Amino acid sequence: MEKMITCSSLPMTAPTATPLAYSPGLEGVVAGETSISTVEDGLRYRGYPVGELAERATFDEVAYLLLYGELPTVGELAEFQARVAMARRLPEPVRQLFHALPKWSSPLDALRTAVSALAHFDQDMADNSTEANLRKSERLLAQMPVAIADHYRISKGLQPVMARQELSHAANFLYMLRGTEPPAEEVRALDISLTLYAEHEFNASTFTARVIVSTMSDLHSAVTGALGALKGPLHGGANEKVMDVVRSAGGPSTAEAWTLDALARKERIMGFGHRVYKTGDVRAGILKPIARKLAEAGGSELVQWEDTADIIETVMAGKKGMYPNLDWPAGRLYHAMNLETPVYTPMFAMSRIAGWSAHVIEQLASNRLIRPRGLYIGPAGRSVKPIAERG
Ligand code: ACO
Repeated sequence: MEKMITCSSLPMTAPTATPLAYSPGLEGVVAGETSISTVEDGLRYRGYPVGELAERATFDEVAYLLLYGELPTVGELAEFQARVAMARRLPEPVRQLFHALPKWSSPLDALRTAVSALAHFDQDMADNSTEANLRKSERLLAQMPVAIADHYRISKGLQPVMARQELSHAANFLYMLRGTEPPAEEVRALDISLTLYAEHEFNASTFTARVIVSTMSDLHSAVTGALGALKGPLHGGANEKVMDVVRSAGGPSTAEAWTLDALARKERIMGFGHRVYKTGDVRAGILKPIARKLAEAGGSELVQWEDTADIIETVMAGKKGMYPNLDWPAGRLYHAMNLETPVYTPMFAMSRIAGWSAHVIEQLASNRLIRPRGLYIGPAGRSVKPIAERG
């Protein structure tokens, strides 16, 4: 006979006797341990101040540091760069996907689709050992810029450009996007921005990656989810909004009045504010002079946007006690490099893949399922009336 489920046969659920702590947006909550980076004492990756890394190392060295824990020697870097360069190609079916996507697909959405599709072609996909995850991380580090550049060119009806093995991450990306040799000062500026974007502790996209892999899922799934989290304008999507803000302000003569008006209308000024940094983001200070230098090399129109941005900064600090985050100079720097706005957040991602991968590997090394609680604010307990009795 079939067993009837009665209320009395259901287990009584008393999940916790401890009062639940609740912090909206998880503000101030420590969600895990990490040895990859800290924001406690200025931003440091594996103990190194990010400013020193930006000045004395390249993004390729920083990516190695994040993945392997130490800065590389000359030999280690050469081997790492050679492995990454060898992986700079997409399986043909993944490239064909870019032809199949609607014309209006954004570069970030296309990148997210590409990473998800790449999982099917990676022989290590289901292997969660550290060794396999390092191999997959290096491959994604190599493939993501290729995916961004190929999608960009295909969406414009242009032929994709073959990767160049001897170029750095930054130089090869610019080369593949444009099909021409990039100037050294642009390569260096982009390289520094990638170093600054590479890692940032338990930010929204990295936390997403850690949650996904904490279920013992896989690195490609974690990165696909992280890309979805990065896309939003409160996170990585903000760098695509920066030039809208600067242009809306009109120019140096109208910027102060425009900013005051926008604040009075309670508008959010994209590129300002941060959940953790309340007195300024060190990364923004490092990139700001680099953005101005490139603007000065590019002519007076670009310089006037830098002047406009400076005025917005002054008003935001004075009236709101709010400071720029990294996206503020990065959006202007990429504009000064004549790159099209919809690739800015994907460019953030082709750097942050280093941090995401390091966190996936760290999470799996001492994994515990990430499963917080919700504070219930719904109706009080009630019983189900048969449908005929509901009116
Ligand atoms: N411009 C104007 N006001 C702002 C801004 C801003 N950029 N950021 C926050 N505020 C205001 C809010 O309107 C809110 O005001 P209220 O209390 O009067 O309602 C108050 O500050 C607190 O806002 P929260 O969203 O709760 O602050 P939080 O610290 O959680 O937000 C965040 C951090 C999401 C980054 C926010 O500052 C923001 O939206 N900034 C713009 C988007 C952006 O630049 N994101 C990039 C983040 S950094 C990165 O990804 C590299």
